[in-house]
Amino acid sequence: MKETTDANEAALLQDARKRLETFAKERGNLIPILQMVQEKLAYLPSPALAMVAEYLGMTASDVYGVATFYNQFRFQPPGRNPIKVCLGTACYVKGGDIILENFERKLKIREGDTTPDREFSVERVACVGCCALAPVAVAGETLHGHMQPSKVEGLVLRIRMETQKKEKEADEKSNSD
Ligand code: FES
Repeated sequence: MKETTDANEAALLQDARKRLETFAKERGNLIPILQMVQEKLAYLPSPALAMVAEYLGMTASDVYGVATFYNQFRFQPPGRNPIKVCLGTACYVKGGDIILENFERKLKIREGDTTPDREFSVERVACVGCCALAPVAVAGETLHGHMQPSKVEGLVLRIRMETQKKEKEADEKSNSD
């Protein structure tokens, strides 16, 4: 699984390298270039930062320094089940920050991080447009409204079980092919 992930990532990095050539070698293009790379890889791994630095004639630490200034960039791969906790005003006043803390505690990671098995990542987002359901969390593509701290554990467990079920079904299918 890890090898497949690495191979995919190498291919995506190669793709990003080709796209890089379409940008003029100007430092003013740094942000659009980083956005393009993140669009391809879903995050900015060190080899990508080094590649961008070399292209623009900058040091990797300069590129990293600029990228960390903007919270739109992430430096860890998102989990297969990304959890987004809304901290827009309506959700915040209804305890969105406590929901976020509960996910962090349950998954033993901080906001912006990914679990070591890459199953989950947690991040805060601005209003997702469903304020009537505040506080809201989005797990994968599914929106969970009226979240409560006590629902966090059950939700994580359910996602884990669904993931295991899907993996088992995929294994059975590949064994029967
Ligand atoms: S503030 Fe959370 S959905 Fe609007």
